[in-house]
Amino acid sequence: MTEQIKGYAYGQVGQSPLSIADLDLLKKTVLFGEEDEKNLRLAGEVLKDQTNEVLDLWYGFVGGNEHLVHYFTKNGQPNMDYLTAVRARFGQWIMDLCNKPYDQIWLNYQHEIALRHHSIKKNKTDDVDTVPIIHYRYMVAFIFPITATIKGFLAKKGHDAETVEAMYSAWFKAVTLTVILWTYPYINKNEF
Ligand code: HEM
Repeated sequence: MTEQIKGYAYGQVGQSPLSIADLDLLKKTVLFGEEDEKNLRLAGEVLKDQTNEVLDLWYGFVGGNEHLVHYFTKNGQPNMDYLTAVRARFGQWIMDLCNKPYDQIWLNYQHEIALRHHSIKKNKTDDVDTVPIIHYRYMVAFIFPITATIKGFLAKKGHDAETVEAMYSAWFKAVTLTVILWTYPYINKNEF
């Protein structure tokens, strides 16, 4: 149940600086259309009982890289409660990315997640005292691992290669769109 996820505040956050009209143009630019929405719903079905395995893989990647686990640390020590709290919201994000309508409420929550990666709001949700910002360069760099690693999971439920490719491509576009929205606070005013 989503309301039990600590710090998950979908539908209860401030307004995104972007409008649905802005989002529509971004969608057009990454070639995200109705077919992609359908394929994301299917991906949601395929992934829903695999989110723990997906998270194990992603957390393995972060945990295995000192420069990434760094963002969960204070004085070099990883904060395990923080890692665990974020993991639960990360799992919910997989489902939201696939299933939620990309409306103003969704847009607003993307802005909230943007602030949570940036110094404006990092650490606040979980009331922790770790490093103050996730650097911009890693936000963009993450698009590749978060995309490439999903393919194997999309292929696990017996869909033909073409369907897997369509889900994969929809996922890639959705992650690209998301990360663009999440970088808003890092960009100079009027330059986003
Ligand atoms: C928070 C996904 C990039 C570290 C989160 C959350 C999600 C997420 C879903 C929780 C959002 C919520 O509070 O509801 C992603 C995705 C990324 C990305 C999809 C890029 C494609 C990164 C990078 C790092 C990172 C590069 C660095 C290791 C964190 C941390 C938090 C967080 C520390 C907690 C922030 C806070 O204090 O609230 N991420 N993330 N993320 N992520 Fe990311």
